[in-house]
Amino acid sequence: MTCLLFWHPHAPQDVEAATPWGQDYFPNTPLVTQDGQPVRFFDDLIKDKVVAVNFIFTGCSDSCPVETARLRQVQKILGDRVGKDIFLYSISIDPYNDTPATLKRYAEKFGLGPGWTLLTGEPGDIEQLRRRLGLFIEGLENGRSKDHNLSLIIGNQKTGRWMKASPFESPYILADRLGNSLHNWKNASNLANDYAHAPQVRPPSTGEQIYRTRCSSCHSLGDGALGAPHGIGPDLLGVTRQREAKWLVNWLKAPDKMLAEKDPLALLLYEQYNRLPMPNMRLGDTEINALLVYLEEETQRIQTPVTR
Ligand code: HEC
Repeated sequence: MTCLLFWHPHAPQDVEAATPWGQDYFPNTPLVTQDGQPVRFFDDLIKDKVVAVNFIFTGCSDSCPVETARLRQVQKILGDRVGKDIFLYSISIDPYNDTPATLKRYAEKFGLGPGWTLLTGEPGDIEQLRRRLGLFIEGLENGRSKDHNLSLIIGNQKTGRWMKASPFESPYILADRLGNSLHNWKNASNLANDYAHAPQVRPPSTGEQIYRTRCSSCHSLGDGALGAPHGIGPDLLGVTRQREAKWLVNWLKAPDKMLAEKDPLALLLYEQYNRLPMPNMRLGDTEINALLVYLEEETQRIQTPVTR
């Protein structure tokens, strides 16, 4: 799940239109929004629109928060176009537990803005929809599986162009596809340039790479960049000096365990950050070490006053 999995990455338009993703392919599944409003998948959600659709469940503590945080970055990059000419949908695969009210709380916790709708519905209907969208893996699923298919599809219903994407892709690339290429560059903006502007004078270290792909959607690092000051989690600049090394290692290894064991600091942070638990990212010792080295290096780089 490291790269974008395209149906037809560079195929010309007419070839794409011939894929089974055209009109009449999508079911008109009845769904309910987080505000309790009934909608139909085709007519109300995707018809004539550029959209991103993924499947989540609010009780999922591992991959879904990471995915939601990533999509939230995409939403930030796209700004007020979300809700105008780009629409985001997260559909629950656990409709028994995810009532509209549950979804609404989830949206509030993550600070999801307008133009991003959370949906639930009848379990059978949702399963059928997932199959249709190619986001259902036989055998892996039992409704509560942690391994639910971590993909989203993005597309333009009118042109029939659809692609499957990984939520772990750079948010700038996802935003560029939603904002520019899927609109046939009609509203071409400088979204892609933002990415070029991201300073990168040296090849990233292992720690930096892990940080960018797995942590930066929820945390900032003194950079005031995307996410900050409204990050989902705390800014991590200086954290290697603020906390004991042992605590940090334990935390990165299993934040869920520390919370369950009522570690006082874990409890405090949890309360401070909207009761949204940091997911257990299943990091190995080497990864944790690389991350801590990177966090310390960045702290040193940014906090050390430039002397001439
Ligand atoms: C889905 C969002 C999310 C992701 C992804 C995430 N975190 Fe967190 N992190 C949080 C939240 C929220 C907190 C605050 C504690 C809580 O609520 O559980 C936190 C707390 C922390 C803390 C403690 C900060 C302090 O002040 O002591 C550290 C360190 C940390 N995260 C590091 C990381 C690293 C490194 C990664 C990447 C491997 C990462 N986090 C990925 C959400 C996230």
